[in-house]
Amino acid sequence: MSPLVASAPGWVNLIGEHTDYNGGLCLPVALPQRTTVSVVARTDRALSLSSAQEDGVWEGAVEDRPDGWAAYVAGVVFVLRDNGYDVPGFDAVIESEVPVGAGLSSSAALECSVATALAGLLELDLTDRAERRRLAAACIRAENEYVGAPTGGMDQTIAMLAEPGHALLLDFADGSAIPLELPLEDAGLVLLVIDTRVSHALTDGSYGDRRSECAAAAEALGRPSLRDVPLDAVEALGDPVLRRRARHVVTENLRVLTSVGAIGDRDWSALARLLDESHTSMRDDFEISCTELDLAVESARAAGALGARMTGGGFGGSAVALVPESAVPQVQEAVTAAFARDGHREPAYLVATPGDAARVDSVS
Ligand code: GLA
Repeated sequence: MSPLVASAPGWVNLIGEHTDYNGGLCLPVALPQRTTVSVVARTDRALSLSSAQEDGVWEGAVEDRPDGWAAYVAGVVFVLRDNGYDVPGFDAVIESEVPVGAGLSSSAALECSVATALAGLLELDLTDRAERRRLAAACIRAENEYVGAPTGGMDQTIAMLAEPGHALLLDFADGSAIPLELPLEDAGLVLLVIDTRVSHALTDGSYGDRRSECAAAAEALGRPSLRDVPLDAVEALGDPVLRRRARHVVTENLRVLTSVGAIGDRDWSALARLLDESHTSMRDDFEISCTELDLAVESARAAGALGARMTGGGFGGSAVALVPESAVPQVQEAVTAAFARDGHREPAYLVATPGDAARVDSVS
């Protein structure tokens, strides 16, 4: 029997960081790089999972709880079954172009490719946005409850709802997801992703610490979340750490809104300034940057990037820079040279042309 093939994109966030779990705004873009899964349904209740990027095959029953990368697959199966879907046993072969640990959401790409493949096997209607949202919600639950990474939901939402050529304005207060045309190539610009190759894992404590600090700041302010808190209320917070964390979230939401205006006006230098300000806020107030991310951002700007910021969860992973297409080689050379000079690992690069959402690529 020939397999059903489905795929889901990695993702890079243009702006709006650590806002999703604070009822806030963000503006992610799906990458052209995808994770692809080929599945064949089985008649028993067994799973056989293999990945071109990982050693060995994981085999077990649909009810088993594997560790490691297989948990992302089993977590999706568990949540879909818990939601009442009659997910069969299956063989899955996974292949990914999304770099792992680069902050480009290889985990969401894996979850969403599997959820989409299973939706294909179950003949769910993927042209229905509500169905796609239900699958995104299942993947978020798999990551939060099953894998145990306390992430905010942006990754799975962009992977399930992206549109080619568009960023997606996500509002985690009202759940809206609005595609926003991003015609960078008309202006001769590209989004260059610089992977510092400093490993980044959201299951270690630092991401969760920031989440708790934001919750504590909202509580100290007597608010259900940090959304729509006035800046002067934030500045009056007694605890300096909570004040800085809240200041980042509140100003970052404003930067997302201003970025939406700048993109609408095709004012790319305004957008670039906002990227720079976002980086400063994450470095100084949210304290989630690191030496390599700061170096990537600074050396990219010095070599011709209009603006740059770290992207994703932080503590490693990638930066994103708005760069004239003609300056991409010189920016890459300059960043690579700066990393070599300071004794860091050689960074990797990719161009984030806004890609498509998760989809079934071929049916058996
Ligand atoms: C990670 C999480 C997201 C989001 C970002 C920070 O990528 O998976 O939910 O919180 O960090 O913006």
